[in-house]
Amino acid sequence: MNIPHISIFPTLQAFEVAAANWIAGKMTAAIETRGECLMALCGGNTPRGAYRRLAELIVGRSIDQNRVHIIFSDERMVPPDNPESNYGMIRQEFISHIPDSSLHVHRISGEVRPDLAATGYDHELQALFPQFGGRCDLVLLGVGEDGHTASLFPGTEILLERAKLASEVFVPHLDRWRVTLTLPVINNARAVLFLATGKKKAGIVSEVCSNAAPRTDLPASLVRPHPGTLTWMLDAEAASKLASEKSSQAGRAMQ
Ligand code: 6PG
Repeated sequence: MNIPHISIFPTLQAFEVAAANWIAGKMTAAIETRGECLMALCGGNTPRGAYRRLAELIVGRSIDQNRVHIIFSDERMVPPDNPESNYGMIRQEFISHIPDSSLHVHRISGEVRPDLAATGYDHELQALFPQFGGRCDLVLLGVGEDGHTASLFPGTEILLERAKLASEVFVPHLDRWRVTLTLPVINNARAVLFLATGKKKAGIVSEVCSNAAPRTDLPASLVRPHPGTLTWMLDAEAASKLASEKSSQAGRAMQ
């Protein structure tokens, strides 16, 4: 596995600007290199500001949206208009900020039965991936305080899934069904970017970034793209418990 590249930014605003620019750069590079871009967007609250700024960059840099396909790292099983919907958040914070957007958006049908939504999405991805050499150009991920990422939660069977690209998963402590990308999709990506901000994430960020071995009780530690790259972008609060050698490495990366 490639050594994770860790970038730390002094403020939330600096984090959002840097993340949006980094993502836009990956999109542009994919289009220039392969003619199109397949990108998985994550849900949660962390990426909201970066998504708004990314929309501005797509418009400002005239990135050819017709060449960009968007998929979702996971979805809560609710309709798009439900405040819990990851698609709903991404539509609100990203897609709606792009006038006359021609992005190809492949959403997970949160409004249907989980197994049907998962089977349908898996089939849609199986048909889509060959067009992109079988790999995402970029997968965005957040991390929960319990170490989950996408909807890959500690101790769930889906961590062992190696055939499907997407699957349903019941999350006991939430008493909720989710549909999520599986680890093979994430670890096969050309680039994976973790986004984390805020003091609450400092403990888990330090645990995952300093963890040598992959652990099923720490699903984010199972994200080990190869030959793809792994990058963490953090604000100072989320990085505040990183071991000094990691911070100095990141510091050098920022100079
Ligand atoms: C979800 C996300 C999930 C999220 C983390 C972090 O559907 O909730 O896919 O993996 O990225 O829980 O969420 P926050 O950004 O809200 O802290």
